[in-house]
Amino acid sequence: MSQSLATVAYLGAAILFILSLGGLSNPETSRRGNLFGMVGMALAVLATVFGPRVSPAGVAWIVGALVIGGGIGLYAAKVVKMTQMPELVALMHSLVGLAACLVGFASYVDTSIKLQGAEKIIHEVEIYVGILIGAITFSGSLIAFGKLNGKIGGKPLLLPGRHWLNLAALLIVIWFGREFLRAETVEQGMVPLMVMTVIALLFGIHMVMAIGGADMPVVVSMLNSYSGWAAAATGFMLSNDLLIVTGALVGSSGAILSYIMCNAMNRNFISVIAGGFGSGAGTPAKKGEAAEPQGEAVPVSSAETAELLRDAKSVIIVPGYGMAVAQAQHTVYEITKTLREKGVDVRFAIHPVAGRMPGHMNVLLAEAKVPYDIVMEMDEINDDFPAADVAMVIGANDIVNPSALDDPSSPIAGMPVLEVWKAKTSIVMKRSMASGYAGVDNPLFYKDNNRMLFGDAKKMLDEVLTALKS
Ligand code: TAP
Repeated sequence: MSQSLATVAYLGAAILFILSLGGLSNPETSRRGNLFGMVGMALAVLATVFGPRVSPAGVAWIVGALVIGGGIGLYAAKVVKMTQMPELVALMHSLVGLAACLVGFASYVDTSIKLQGAEKIIHEVEIYVGILIGAITFSGSLIAFGKLNGKIGGKPLLLPGRHWLNLAALLIVIWFGREFLRAETVEQGMVPLMVMTVIALLFGIHMVMAIGGADMPVVVSMLNSYSGWAAAATGFMLSNDLLIVTGALVGSSGAILSYIMCNAMNRNFISVIAGGFGSGAGTPAKKGEAAEPQGEAVPVSSAETAELLRDAKSVIIVPGYGMAVAQAQHTVYEITKTLREKGVDVRFAIHPVAGRMPGHMNVLLAEAKVPYDIVMEMDEINDDFPAADVAMVIGANDIVNPSALDDPSSPIAGMPVLEVWKAKTSIVMKRSMASGYAGVDNPLFYKDNNRMLFGDAKKMLDEVLTALKS
């Protein structure tokens, strides 16, 4: 493939990636967006492998790596459960970071690159910054992976003087950067490069360890953004324009998403990054531990729930992480259809951080074929709860916790929540009184107009559906 053909293919791929991002911004066009992304990526890979910069001998290596990597990716995507998706994404981000580090070291020791003067400095800055971002992304994403799958606790690790530690790390990295640029030989440059890599790895661990459970959504999207910048840095090191463009697209869209997440959670972006948010002054219960009783929670049966739903004129369903665990989305839609046939107005209320990844609930509801026009964002529907007869909470907890609004000492204080307790009756469907991801007690359970339907969401909803149909 000639250079000009490869350039045209890269341009086409870049346009397809932009169209893909545009498509993904709306559920109705998201399938098309995905398709654009897939075609763009295929084009990019083909143009790179068969492009002018890869020798015929190199093609065999790349195809071998593609088969192995693609095989592992295919297997992982097939076996991963929907609830493990965020962990998988975190793991993938870590690989982007690792790749940036490896490419950085390889570029530095590559003796075939002979540069002088300003070009040499620019290339070395690219290497240094690329490895820096890559190492932070790598270790930070691994910790996020551990936090998301529960292997590492959600409680923030707050080292004494952590801001000073971060500042010291930054200054050391700058100083070693200077040493690196002044090095005359690869051997001399390797020492500052290695020291910086170790500091960046430690910084990545510290940054994510210091973030409280409830703020993990911001971290997930932030690491997504970092992985984009790491890819862009790799593009600079390899002088690959498409990788620079693609990395910048991922980096900036991830940054915008982080900003949106912060707004949705009423958090200050810088404070989240600096760590310690989500720790609060309160003493959150250990994840999954039963919350301290604050009153009496009133249980209901599935038959009583069906009756409440049947008698209602307006129902708002709030799905959360538990719906994903139970895979109850199809039964939820069956219930919705049955109620709508009976003339009940049913709508869904989606919190921006419901579940474990951005858009988690939208994906599940779309999979169950719930029409988009009855799926509302938090801002669109929060004022409608007082007019609703029943608010049915399916496996959600933190996102419907009133203490976020009225307890300033709560670790989730200030986070906007879905105000389900304002409905005539709220029904919370979960297996126990255990707390949610943020490990915070939920006073909603003890409110007079709240009922608890205990059990696995899928099982309970099946029973509710049977009762509704009988
Ligand atoms: P959570 O607060 O985690 O609550 C989920 C509830 O579902 C749990 O209390 C659990 O109670 C229940 N549950 C689990 N399995 C169930 C099953 N099989 N059947 C019925 N119920 C089940 O979820 P949420 O309300 O969706 O809030 C999301 C939380 O995750 C927030 O704190 C958010 O910050 C965090 N987070 C979000 C993201 C993104 S981007 N969305 C990323 C990382 C973290 P039982 O054990 O009693 O059943």
